[in-house]
Amino acid sequence: MTDLRSWLEKVESFGELRHVLGAHWDTELGAIAELSYRTPEPKALLFDDIDGYATGRVLTGSTGSARRLGLTLGLGDDLDDAAVVAALRGKPSVWAATARDHPTETVTSSPLLDNVVEGRDVDLLSLPVPRWHAEDGGRFIGTGCLVITTDPETKDINGGCYRMEVVEDGRSATIAAVPGKHGAQHVRRWFDRGEKAPVVVSFGHHPVLLVTGGTEVPTGISELEYAGAILGERLPVLIGEHTGLPIPAGSEVAIEGWLSPDHLADEGPFGEWTGYYSGRRRPAPALEIARMYHRDDPVLLGAPPGKPPHDYSYMRTVMKSAMIEDALVAAGVPGVRGAWAHEAGGGRLFIAVSVETRYAGHSTQVGHLTAQLPAAAYMNRFVVVVDDDIDVANLDEVVWAMSTRCDPVRDIDVVGGTWGSKLDPMLVEGAPPYNSRAVVDATRPYDRRATFPKVSTGDPAYLRSVMAKWADVFS
Ligand SMILES: Cc1cc2nc3c(=O)[nH]c(=O)nc-3n(C[C@H](O)[C@H](O)[C@H](O)COP(=O)(O)O)c2cc1C
Repeated sequence: MTDLRSWLEKVESFGELRHVLGAHWDTELGAIAELSYRTPEPKALLFDDIDGYATGRVLTGSTGSARRLGLTLGLGDDLDDAAVVAALRGKPSVWAATARDHPTETVTSSPLLDNVVEGRDVDLLSLPVPRWHAEDGGRFIGTGCLVITTDPETKDINGGCYRMEVVEDGRSATIAAVPGKHGAQHVRRWFDRGEKAPVVVSFGHHPVLLVTGGTEVPTGISELEYAGAILGERLPVLIGEHTGLPIPAGSEVAIEGWLSPDHLADEGPFGEWTGYYSGRRRPAPALEIARMYHRDDPVLLGAPPGKPPHDYSYMRTVMKSAMIEDALVAAGVPGVRGAWAHEAGGGRLFIAVSVETRYAGHSTQVGHLTAQLPAAAYMNRFVVVVDDDIDVANLDEVVWAMSTRCDPVRDIDVVGGTWGSKLDPMLVEGAPPYNSRAVVDATRPYDRRATFPKVSTGDPAYLRSVMAKWADVFS
């Protein structure tokens, strides 16, 4: 089960797929999706009969529930929120360690080859590419996409999810990978050699590729192999004739071509995961497309960001929390009990970590390490370290700990010159994309643990016995 259609069938079978007919690609589809994310149990939406388009469909909300995320990650399709988080604990490091045991499997046939469009005949707007938000600068075909690149020297393959706007009347699309992201580093290395960078992009695939492409899989590990480790299956790929790069054979739509340093086009603004539009229109590398491949009536995998909760904020929070916790444990720090990259901070800006403190300086170590982990460094703003009696996923508890166990003068460290982004609404136009971050120690002071005032709730065992005795009061 490595393609989108079998994933859709499964989701339909447990009642979490809704068909939406007749929406318009120009903001209406995006608005329906946005309204859906705000419902208590958002469904996956499959848009069909899109206004002005006889063929082509768009999927949104793919990873927005525990059942769909559990299915996508091969953890089980009957889990609730807590069970998905529990099932994920420790998995990212296992997947990273076993990725290379799941090399892609080259195949020569696939429904993706049913329609092959060469070079200048390519028109990305022959598909119902949405303009997602009212103030977007254009139509973004790349939201849930996978941009596949390679390192010219090591030949490592990377798959990253970077936004892509259709430009040049449908003949090209920009790729807005932030400098420092693995895909951007690959492209830079080709340019430094004076060569064009070969690129493949898939626009509709099993959402596991949205998860692996859209979260910080460790450097040097192919997201295609990592996805294979997640699913316990080698991913079938075609080999692009022009670029030699792997193309997921289960893809609905894919393109291959090249980026070059002198082929740029203006892109943006775009409604981003921070909850704000991304500044002014700016130049970004635009693809010279050699070939486009698509299935009949293909499905574009949409994952539009916005003010949280948005399309992939649930997935990002759950995945990044697991990755951060794993990375802290792998770094050898003792006592780490949990990490949560809160959805309200887009899964990046506000991270809480709980620790059973064991020595003076322990909580500071955990806080500063977390703020700079590869899984967390980009666009982090606050790390809050709490004791292990605090539920890191519960904002009320985290705020209570900050309010009662933290002396701001002593317990908040501010670090500047850190990895920010042009997406940051706090960045002044034209300034270099640094940010700063606060590491908040909201644990009881280590040297006062024995004498720190006791929490004034009942003893848990006593409360349980009272609950049992007075069950009818709480029924
Ligand atoms: C739907 C979606 C859109 C994203 N858009 C961008 C983007 O436009 N630019 C970017 O640098 N990262 C973007 N990201 C975040 C990257 O995908 C993420 O940082 C990922 O780890 C990058 O892969 P890499 O580490 O292999 O470079 C997006 C993530 C998702 C899920």
